[in-house]
Amino acid sequence: MTSALAIDALTVSFPGPYGRVRVIEDVSLSIGRGEIVGLVGESGSGKSVTALAAMRLLSTTARVDAGSVHVGERNLATLSKTELLRLRGSEIAMIFQEPMTSLNPLFRAGFQIGETLEAHLGLSRAQARGRAIELMRAVGITDPERRVDDYPHQLSGGMRQRVMIAMAMACGPRVLIADEPTTALDVTIQAQILALVRRLRDDTGMGVLLITHDLGVVAGMANRVVVMYAGLVMEEAPVRTLFAAPLHPYTRLLLKSIPRIGAKAQRLHQIAGTTPPPSRFPVGCRFHPRCPDAIDQCRTELPPLETQADGRRVRCWRARETGLVSMRP
Ligand SMILES: Nc1ncnc2c1ncn2[C@@H]1O[C@H](COP(=O)(O)OP(=O)(O)O)[C@@H](O)[C@H]1O
Ligand code: SF4
Ligand SMILES: [Mg+2]
Repeated sequence: MTSALAIDALTVSFPGPYGRVRVIEDVSLSIGRGEIVGLVGESGSGKSVTALAAMRLLSTTARVDAGSVHVGERNLATLSKTELLRLRGSEIAMIFQEPMTSLNPLFRAGFQIGETLEAHLGLSRAQARGRAIELMRAVGITDPERRVDDYPHQLSGGMRQRVMIAMAMACGPRVLIADEPTTALDVTIQAQILALVRRLRDDTGMGVLLITHDLGVVAGMANRVVVMYAGLVMEEAPVRTLFAAPLHPYTRLLLKSIPRIGAKAQRLHQIAGTTPPPSRFPVGCRFHPRCPDAIDQCRTELPPLETQADGRRVRCWRARETGLVSMRP
């Protein structure tokens, strides 16, 4: 079956002080209909660049050096500007961490939701307003008949995120990319927004790419998880398997840094060191300077991303050495 979204061997570079720098490399992931895929990794690992490349929304200095993106059957590279504009919103939509970057402060919330409907579905202004109210109700905004005329600054952070989700959902996309959608929100609102995304997935069958630096966020949400570090996919597995038996040392350390609900005050495990900038990715395994399990080979040779018999993928020499990885892609 065709995936709702298929990113295949995508490599993206930006200009750096000494020539172009690859910020993501050979990134592949796919999302099936009705599936929620978590894309996880520390800040700077290349999650947003991957998402923006999937939307063809990268800045003009970015270059896609290799790979492809398909939304359903369509290869984005073959689409004209007009076709791309039509695709965005109607087939694939994105929401961001800070709704104010996407909402226009000068226009009323309902108008901004309705604008998409006028543009994509050809609804009249009055019809679009009516549908905007319905959508606002569907995303849990109380009293939408009144809220429809509010300006973004009159809404709370959680409400603004709901308005953005309503805008994204307006034309019934096949795929929703949510880039850190709850990072700026407090824990209660975060849980509400995640429950909303899950419900919309259940109702519409859309696929969701849920991007977060926090593995805890994907725990109850995702079907599958893709872990990125320093521009590379390091591990991919069904969510339960990943939590029960992570193969990659980086995944294991990320799991240790999740706060446990109900646990007494505890010191969170921090992964020593920081993610290197793309101009200074180390040779060999890019995680080796921070890896507690590194061996000599890790310092010189980049491990390939290998696929196991059960479809799990992992990029680590040690996972291979222990016989956990049995099959090449
Ligand atoms: N427009 C850009 N120009 C140059 N480098 C960029 C640009 N956008 C992102 N990067 C770099 O690409 C890397 C990955 O960034 P990003 O995808 O935003 O990380 P994440 O979303 O995982 O935190 C970072 O090192 C970032 O500095
Ligand atoms: S390849 Fe080596 S350095 Fe990289 S994660 Fe595996 S053990 Fe650690
Ligand atoms: Mg990001």
